[in-house]
Amino acid sequence: MIKVLFVCLGNICRSPMGEFMMKDKVLREGISEEFYISSAGTSGEEEGNPVYPPAREELAKQGISCSGKRARKFTKADYKEYDYILAMESRNVTDLLRIAGGDPDSKIFRILDFTSFPRDIADPWYTRNFTKTREDLEEGLESFLSYLKREKKIK
Ligand code: 4NP
Repeated sequence: MIKVLFVCLGNICRSPMGEFMMKDKVLREGISEEFYISSAGTSGEEEGNPVYPPAREELAKQGISCSGKRARKFTKADYKEYDYILAMESRNVTDLLRIAGGDPDSKIFRILDFTSFPRDIADPWYTRNFTKTREDLEEGLESFLSYLKREKKIK
């Protein structure tokens, strides 16, 4: 079982989109049993809040539900618990390193660092373009799953 945690700042837009898109993807690929997937934020600002409506609508357009998800803050215990901690942007990585007290097990990645064009996920908080965020996440997820297959972490 591979435990994957998506992380952004508030845990109401980008990381829940990543979480539910990946859950949908592995289900469709018939490999959902190999994964435990969740998400968290580096800030506690949105703690307890549901997914931001435009992000929820972007997922709904793809037939993906994120109902029941509530924002929570990343903790040091999460660092131990998860195998892959997938951040949306460099700032998240900096904050994760501070909360976790470093990354001795090399578990922290920026999700788009698995692609051939390493970069931050487009932040819809500023662009209001949730479709671009979804497309970036799609590219990241595709590359991350290819990496796991290439490294023989999954079948
Ligand atoms: P997220 O989006 O980190 O993708 O969940 C944001 C949510 C809240 C804020 C910024 C980004 N905020 O500034 O409160």
